[in-house]
Amino acid sequence: MKAIIPAAGYGTRFLPATKVVPKELLPVGAKPAIQWIVEEALAAGADEVVIVTSPDKPALRRHFSVEPIWHERLRNKPEIDAAISHVEALSRKIRFVDQMEQRGLGHAVLQAASLFKGTSEPILILLGDALVNSPVPCAQEMASVARQIAPDASWVGVERVPRDQVYRYGVVAGTHLPENDRVLRLTGLVEKPAVADAPSDLVIAGRYLLQPAIFTWLQSQKPGTGGEIQLTDAILRSMADTPVYAYRYPGKRHDIGRPEGYLKTLNEWGCVEG
Ligand code: UTP
Repeated sequence: MKAIIPAAGYGTRFLPATKVVPKELLPVGAKPAIQWIVEEALAAGADEVVIVTSPDKPALRRHFSVEPIWHERLRNKPEIDAAISHVEALSRKIRFVDQMEQRGLGHAVLQAASLFKGTSEPILILLGDALVNSPVPCAQEMASVARQIAPDASWVGVERVPRDQVYRYGVVAGTHLPENDRVLRLTGLVEKPAVADAPSDLVIAGRYLLQPAIFTWLQSQKPGTGGEIQLTDAILRSMADTPVYAYRYPGKRHDIGRPEGYLKTLNEWGCVEG
């Protein structure tokens, strides 16, 4: 299995902090956020991670690169040197592709399509600005539940939020499976609905396991909410030939793409060991 981490967005909600430093590199403990997400993808069974970035965000490539000078500098600090060696080991499993125009999440995912030719396995997608705090890493748990219940379906990770917040997310409609109350078979999906129109309080929280046909749907996807090519819209259309399930993971998503969300992340997660 391979994973995609879209990380090419402008990060406008966190300017000016993100003018030079990509939000995906903001520190959470001693690691940047995206490193936690790469580790989550690998723990879920991905053997390669494709990071979608842009030439405006060169620091992302630099973080995941081998720079021998660090080993010289850290000659007398073996513990810190080990942390650098760990990042280098991760970097061997990472490829980068560029999104030259920021036309939305669906468009970012589409930029990785050429690396998935001939793939029949589902693709794990993890948003580069969403950390999920859960006992078992979210993607790992969702991949395992998907294998048991419906390996040929597409899956989205969902979380319950207060009703008055649903307008900020993709919201799912569906029916619970009797054998597992954390799983729903979806009947619909709406991106950023008005609170009164939302079909539920279960929202897509930045983790997806999608069948490769999603690339075909994305190719013909027209812009939606905000004039952007929305991944949610393509998933909704893909329901014409692929069932979609939601997994309500036992954890909490942290949105590091906004100052309030980032500070909350540090309060609730920042005590972790780097
Ligand atoms: P967001 O919508 O949260 O990111 O996308 P953004 O566009 O950077 O946010 P604002 O509104 O300007 O603050 C979720 C993830 O998808 C990536 C982002 O980098 C983020 O990790 N993304 C978004 C892309 O890769 N390309 C895009 O065109 C949009």
